[in-house]
Amino acid sequence: MVEIGVSILSANYGYLKDEVKKVERAGVDFIHIDMMDGHFVPNLSMGIGIAKYIKEITNLPTEVHLMVENPNMFIPILADDVDMISFHIEACRFPFRTINLIRERESKPIVALNPSTPIDSIEYILDEVYGVLVMTVEPGFSGQKFIPQMVRKIDSLKRIINREGHDTKIFVDGGINPETAPKVVEAGADVLISSSAIYNHGNIEEAVRRLREAAKFKK
Ligand code: DX5
Ligand code: ZN
Repeated sequence: MVEIGVSILSANYGYLKDEVKKVERAGVDFIHIDMMDGHFVPNLSMGIGIAKYIKEITNLPTEVHLMVENPNMFIPILADDVDMISFHIEACRFPFRTINLIRERESKPIVALNPSTPIDSIEYILDEVYGVLVMTVEPGFSGQKFIPQMVRKIDSLKRIINREGHDTKIFVDGGINPETAPKVVEAGADVLISSSAIYNHGNIEEAVRRLREAAKFKK
């Protein structure tokens, strides 16, 4: 079954605990925390303190999505408090080293790719990571439009993973809603991450239910 993670980027920060509890009650599988440094992406968002706080208030697994220039700087002060860490290949000169930093602290490494970054760039680390996070918008903001060319990218990545017999999961992040979900699931996505389609819907339980329903679609 396809898993659903909710990004709190579009949540109401004044009621963050309630916002997390609402998606927890709606039955999502994990919480996705977007960290931005104003260098790797043209925006700032949450810091280490938020990740620690979220861990305290929920039993759901947490995943931090590091959209920062220097992921290695943050991993040691973050990894003990989160279950999964996504780092961008574009910001990483020595990915095997970064993967080890995450693994040593018993967190799961996920490699993230910007939309235009080719799959070839991660060919040799595919069997070392828990997942590949395919960005389906340019990173930096929630509420952007899904980039349709990413369906083909997910399809190609799935073929490689299957051909080589890895158990690497494909995560997709950006513009995921009940309309785009069937397309990425059909192409091979295992895990959907969504923010504005959940938090801007008005009824969070209904939004999660609709996304889960849409993700059941299989060819
Ligand atoms: C974008 C973030 C995403 C974002 C998704 O840089 O990495 O996680 O919150 O938001 P939606 O689902 O609104 O595209
Ligand atoms: Zn994200």
